Amino acid sequence: MADLIVALDLASADEALAMVDQLPDLEWAKIGPVLFVREGPAVVRGLKQRGIKVFLDLKWYDIPSTVAGAVAAAADQGIDLATVHSLGGQQMLEAAVKACGTTKLVAVTVLTSYSSERYWNTVGRESVTDLGPEVSRLARMAVGAGVHGVVTSVLEVAGVRSALGPEPWIVTPGIRPAGADSGDQQRTADPGAAVRAGATHLVVGRPITRAESPDEVYKSIKQEMRQAR
Ligand code: C5P
Repeated sequence: MADLIVALDLASADEALAMVDQLPDLEWAKIGPVLFVREGPAVVRGLKQRGIKVFLDLKWYDIPSTVAGAVAAAADQGIDLATVHSLGGQQMLEAAVKACGTTKLVAVTVLTSYSSERYWNTVGRESVTDLGPEVSRLARMAVGAGVHGVVTSVLEVAGVRSALGPEPWIVTPGIRPAGADSGDQQRTADPGAAVRAGATHLVVGRPITRAESPDEVYKSIKQEMRQAR
């Protein structure tokens, strides 16, 4: 059964914890850079005290010793899952894995905000329309370096799953239940499609946190995930 991770992209720790308290069955929460830079480890402690698993999504990309230090600090705080960036390279990923203790690591592949043209311009190669093979290449490199899985756009999950085989975690954002507002997400799929494509962890933010009844939406997404098996 895939897990549902709620992205707490809210303005303060108070708001984030008030949201969590409306979700009695919540198992996983994601903290991103905005909330973490504002509130720091206090918000992590608030979640851990409530028995919620914490996904710290700061997408580390730096020299290996600095990333290893950040990962070790996350492990010390009991963070359950954190992101590193695959473009930091094999050496950086291996250093992160060495430092992670019981914290699991997933590697970001190609940011979904990239068009293929902008991506190839950035890495200095001729433009290729399809980014799928590049996403799979980075995913294989990252998993080869020892991370537990990757983060990828929901439209690339099936290709990455076939490149990686059954074991590695695949975490995917851009999930929208049928009829939900896609907001600023361009490439979306519904929860059932993401699970069937091979995702192990679905990240959903605003469709839950901006709902009139967050708990009802949370439960209906979980139900759809169960039925998609
Ligand atoms: O509100 P929504 O469901 O769009 O939230 C998706 C979450 O996943 C946000 O926290 C966003 O930062 C994150 N994310 C994303 N696309 C990526 C990487 C992370 O939407 N490529």
